[in-house]
Amino acid sequence: MPLTAAEKAAIKAIWAKAASREAELGAEVLGRLFKAYPQTKTYFIHYDLREGSKDMLNQGAKVMKAIGSAAHHMDDLDHAVSSFSELHAHKLMAEPGNFKLLSRSMEETMASHFPKEFSSTTKAAWDKFLAAVSSALVSKY
Ligand code: HEM
Repeated sequence: MPLTAAEKAAIKAIWAKAASREAELGAEVLGRLFKAYPQTKTYFIHYDLREGSKDMLNQGAKVMKAIGSAAHHMDDLDHAVSSFSELHAHKLMAEPGNFKLLSRSMEETMASHFPKEFSSTTKAAWDKFLAAVSSALVSKY
């Protein structure tokens, strides 16, 4: 189901707050992912996975910038993430279930930084948005 106008607005409202803090928030998303679901670390054995490391900040910023780009192109997500879907689907062969885990970690991060704005309806909009981004990223499986 396509995102409604209200859902799009809820996603953009959170993104407006997160946009200038991609590295910090993205590193936190990864930190939460690796802590709660240690099996996901196997994709990043070449990284320094300590909290606040350069690798965590760099990769965190990349992931969050991709989310930002998706948030600006919600009507054409396949196109917005096409340059990374090749990588995730063919080179990394990331198991699709991991996208759910990453989405969960991202929502926890947003909820913890923006508790007032991240209401249950906003969370539901993010669920839908991140599921659509994930499905665009694995569409080449
Ligand atoms: C919404 C979900 C995700 C987004 C938006 C995302 C975004 C990105 C981006 C933008 C890059 C960098 C691409 C480049 O440098 O050209 C990347 C790389 C990567 N992603 Fe994801 N990703 C997501 C989910 C996942 C998941 C679930 C996994 C596996 C658990 C994963 C594993 C990786 C790995 C291993 C790399 C390459 C790191 C490296 O060696 O430099 N990603 N991702």
